[in-house]
Amino acid sequence: MSVVVHAFQDEAVQAERLAAALGAPLGLVRVHEFPDGETLPTVPAVAPTVLVYRSLHHPNPKLAPLLLACDAWRRAGAERLVLVAPYLCYLRQDAMFAPGQAVSRDAVGRLLAERFDRVVTVDPHLHRTSDLSAQWGVPTTVLSAAVPLAAALEPDPDTVVLGPDEEAAKWAAALAAALGAPHGAMRKRRLGDREIEIDADGLPPLSGKRVVLVDDVCSTGTTLSAAVRFARRQGARIVDVAITHVLFDGENPLPGCGARSVVYTDSCTARADAVPLAPLLASALTDELEPARAPPC
Ligand code: R5P
Repeated sequence: MSVVVHAFQDEAVQAERLAAALGAPLGLVRVHEFPDGETLPTVPAVAPTVLVYRSLHHPNPKLAPLLLACDAWRRAGAERLVLVAPYLCYLRQDAMFAPGQAVSRDAVGRLLAERFDRVVTVDPHLHRTSDLSAQWGVPTTVLSAAVPLAAALEPDPDTVVLGPDEEAAKWAAALAAALGAPHGAMRKRRLGDREIEIDADGLPPLSGKRVVLVDDVCSTGTTLSAAVRFARRQGARIVDVAITHVLFDGENPLPGCGARSVVYTDSCTARADAVPLAPLLASALTDELEPARAPPC
């Protein structure tokens, strides 16, 4: 076998789905943590191409073992390392917003680009970055979760798809295209981590409609809860919510806000009700299964 999927134990469920979708073997990286907090990853047997499944939510404890494992993969003989990171971290800090700050997007990008030959991700939080491949200097495949999310939503011909803020307009457009529905975006003013105001003008009429609210990320749930309440105040008959990346650890913060259903992918969670991204990821990785082309004579 010229391709293997490797993953860390905490994402074995999602990595197993990807390996099964590709028909590739799965190996798990073991990580020893020393009493002083240093880590030592040990990688399983490699193939010429290693597809590394590592979604980079809660990134800080993940990054050091991942970078060390890259050294191990190369020493073990891997010729090609492909990072499959459904969630990419640190993309929001894409500029120095105040003197003295880092541009985290590029600092993390350099770490990855120096070690991986390709990156595959889903709905990255890019608002001022049009081309991540050019920005980071590593071929990056950007996938959309719109089709799997659309398939998980209850069909309703009278649907309007909305983003909770202007940055979510593109997620709304993609999901609306998959559902064949009109779309728009609200306006958000953030007053604090858990305090926002939502308003809107120019939205399609919501009265009596099924509204689907879609966002790339749900962290505290503040944004989507407020957006659900806003849609209900505008007369929406039913509100469903679709999210690519759920960053909340404990209880889902959305029940109780008035949404009928909340669908989300397994990019950052192994919950049984999450929509698997494996078929989407596998469809973008089939070219890795092909034998390397012979160089031209
Ligand atoms: C912001 O631009 C993102 O797209 C989300 O709207 C935001 O991260 C959601 O955070 P929270 O759930 O804490 O409101």
